[in-house]
Amino acid sequence: MPQPFPKPDHIFDRDREWEGLVRFAAANSTEPRLGIVSGRRRQGKTFLLDAVASAFDGFYFAATDSTETESLADLGRALAARTGGGRYAFADWDEALRLLFEVTGDGLVVIDEFPYLSKASPSLPSRIQQALGPRGYGRVARSKLLLCGSAMSVMGSLLAGNAPLRGRASLELIVRPFGYRDAARFWSIGDPRLAVLVHSIVGGTPAYRREFVASDAPASLDDFNDWVLRTVLNPQLPLFREARYLLAEEADIRDTAIYHAVLGAIAAGNATRGGIASCIGRKSPDIGHPLSVLEDSQLIAREPDPFRAGRSLYRITEPLIVFYEAVMRRQWTRLERGDTTGAWQNSQATFLAQVVGPHFEAICRDWEMLHAHTDEPVGETAAGAVADPIRRGQIEVDVAVFAPESPGRPRRVLSLGEAKWDKTMAVRHLDRLRRARDLLAVKGYDMTSTRLTCYGGAGFDDALRAAAKRDPAVRLVDLDTLYG
Ligand SMILES: Nc1ncnc2c1ncn2[C@@H]1O[C@H](COP(=O)(O)OP(=O)(O)OP(=O)(O)O)[C@@H](O)[C@H]1O
Ligand SMILES: [Mg+2]
Repeated sequence: MPQPFPKPDHIFDRDREWEGLVRFAAANSTEPRLGIVSGRRRQGKTFLLDAVASAFDGFYFAATDSTETESLADLGRALAARTGGGRYAFADWDEALRLLFEVTGDGLVVIDEFPYLSKASPSLPSRIQQALGPRGYGRVARSKLLLCGSAMSVMGSLLAGNAPLRGRASLELIVRPFGYRDAARFWSIGDPRLAVLVHSIVGGTPAYRREFVASDAPASLDDFNDWVLRTVLNPQLPLFREARYLLAEEADIRDTAIYHAVLGAIAAGNATRGGIASCIGRKSPDIGHPLSVLEDSQLIAREPDPFRAGRSLYRITEPLIVFYEAVMRRQWTRLERGDTTGAWQNSQATFLAQVVGPHFEAICRDWEMLHAHTDEPVGETAAGAVADPIRRGQIEVDVAVFAPESPGRPRRVLSLGEAKWDKTMAVRHLDRLRRARDLLAVKGYDMTSTRLTCYGGAGFDDALRAAAKRDPAVRLVDLDTLYG
């Protein structure tokens, strides 16, 4: 059956998102409907909403960071433009919503950058609730209202706890970065090695492919260093300041110094709370607040270590921020002075160890979750550390793959893996995984069908290849496999 509202060609990927939006906008409902669209900055929310608004001849309004009075005046002008000129002067949001719903009827209404409005008018969510409620104007009109925003702390709390709009939304759409394979297609990169390198800097954020670098993509692996100099390290392009901007934009962040310190510590490889605190010379309780603000804004994520109860590992979610903290902030003076080449040369070791290495591990975890298609369903992937009491150390496991949890049963480990981006993998890597497997078996994990996986960005030596041939539990995964 032909789709009545096909996705416009200029929108890459996002099929599911488009489908959800179309279903929302096309619904023939007797009730008013509310949808919430969220996602971090630059992921393409406006891009999608603009396209649906066009397809459905909806009313699209983008708020700005202004006072209530200014916002009401802006909305008045936008609505007047829709009804054919003049302007509306609203005394307050009740009046504005009443007219908005009257004018738009059961058509689609999109309010973009909603957090700006609710910041200036904290009572707005409850006014909307009233308008969509039993005796509200929105109910009469059978309005379809989409609220969109990127301040994750605000958008998340819109539907949380006892918030007025809780339970009202019939669509909750989170627009996320493209997965690593889609990102490579979006950048038209066929060489998996180059794809990993580029993804380790710009991730899957669509805007970084377009406006932010003037559509400049590296032509080949040989062009990579030059591309870095032309784009992310080029003070004339917006990508250069983007990581700082992402942080400054978060509503709850004022003094950015402590936040950069925390992010810098994580980027340098400190993943535990204690490790982060001691790296920046603070006590662990002192960094509780910045950590939770960063977590709420989804710039970092806290992932429990699957092998050690109570221990969590912090990770930066946006590759560009890792790159900024690990490479750019440390070379800032050089960069500001224009010695881009020197700054990049100085950063090669750091780039490998702190940016690409950990990023490659994350790609391997994503592969297991999304693309590996082994015979058994995957419940979870994680990185963790297995304590080795005899050798008094611990074995870091880059990629642990678990079966879905089943209550009352020991946790089943489907695979333990080690990822190496720039070193040929050898039997000693496999031996460490074997040791981790034995230790976990003693601890009560179900290791009966655990695979041991080596993810090699730089290949595997002959002895390891031979070992993999002999032992069906051993898997060797190369770049071509990761990129399918
Ligand atoms: N699916 C896509 N296909 C092609 N290009 C895209 C896609 N999504 C986003 N882009 C590009 O990324 C740019 C930025 O997207 P957009 O402004 O919609 O992001 P946003 O999520 O609204 O960000 P912000 O929160 O900063 O407003 C678009 O102008 C477009 O060039
Ligand atoms: Mg936007």
